Amino acid sequence: MSKVNSYLPRLGLKLNGVKYGKKLKLGGWPFIFRFPQASMEIGDDCAVNSNFISNLIGLYQRTIIIARGRGKVRIGNHVGISGSTIYARELIEIGDDTVVGANCKIFDNDFHSLNPDERRRDVYDHLVTRPVRIGRNVFIGCNSIILKGTVIGDNCVIGAGSVVHGTFGPNCTIAGNPARVIKNHESAGKKTGKTKENPEGRECCG
Ligand SMILES: CC(C)(COP(=O)(O)OP(=O)(O)OC[C@H]1O[C@@H](n2cnc3c(N)ncnc32)[C@H](O)[C@@H]1OP(=O)(O)O)[C@@H](O)C(=O)NCCC(=O)NCCS
Repeated sequence: MSKVNSYLPRLGLKLNGVKYGKKLKLGGWPFIFRFPQASMEIGDDCAVNSNFISNLIGLYQRTIIIARGRGKVRIGNHVGISGSTIYARELIEIGDDTVVGANCKIFDNDFHSLNPDERRRDVYDHLVTRPVRIGRNVFIGCNSIILKGTVIGDNCVIGAGSVVHGTFGPNCTIAGNPARVIKNHESAGKKTGKTKENPEGRECCG
């Protein structure tokens, strides 16, 4: 998309109260929306792709980023996002230098109630939300799904097509459904480790 064309989507962000930094590149027209009581911040040097061929993997959709209710979306500097959905009702944080590969989904809630009666009656008042925190310099492989409450440490790699839930320390490769640590970049072969958030060390390689 030319610079001229991306002027309009950027203007839309501005009018919607989305804070964004310098050199935001919009490839195609994303759907980025902040509800009135929500907040959204996008750092400097970010790229958001929404054209089918703006990422040669092939995007299934335009990028959708929503901060709903009192939700917060905080995206750091130099983050790339391709044809993905980020949908916050509480908090989704993505650290500097992180790459969100093609066709990923990142949610801090389940969209529908888990209570059968509320779900049948379309009641959305008690949706469970848990913050999602993705560290710096994380590479999220294409078609991955990051579920509510997930914490991913700095420098991690998420394998393509993973379904990620839980707390993971830094510097590891996490893959599969459910995603597990498959490699530790600091100490090869070590698949568990203890962090403050995860004292038992399960699913963690920090
Ligand atoms: C996760 C990944 C980085 C691992 O690459 P690697 O470090 O070179 O690891 P290997 O290919 O040696 O695989 C190591 C093990 O992990 C498994 N594995 C690799 N990728 C996996 C995935 N996405 N899901 C589940 N398991 C996976 C392999 O089967 C292998 O298992 P084994 O030891 O039992 O044989 C890579 O497979 C991947 O998914 N890259 C993402 C690519 C991508 O999505 N790019 C586009 C972004 S827009």
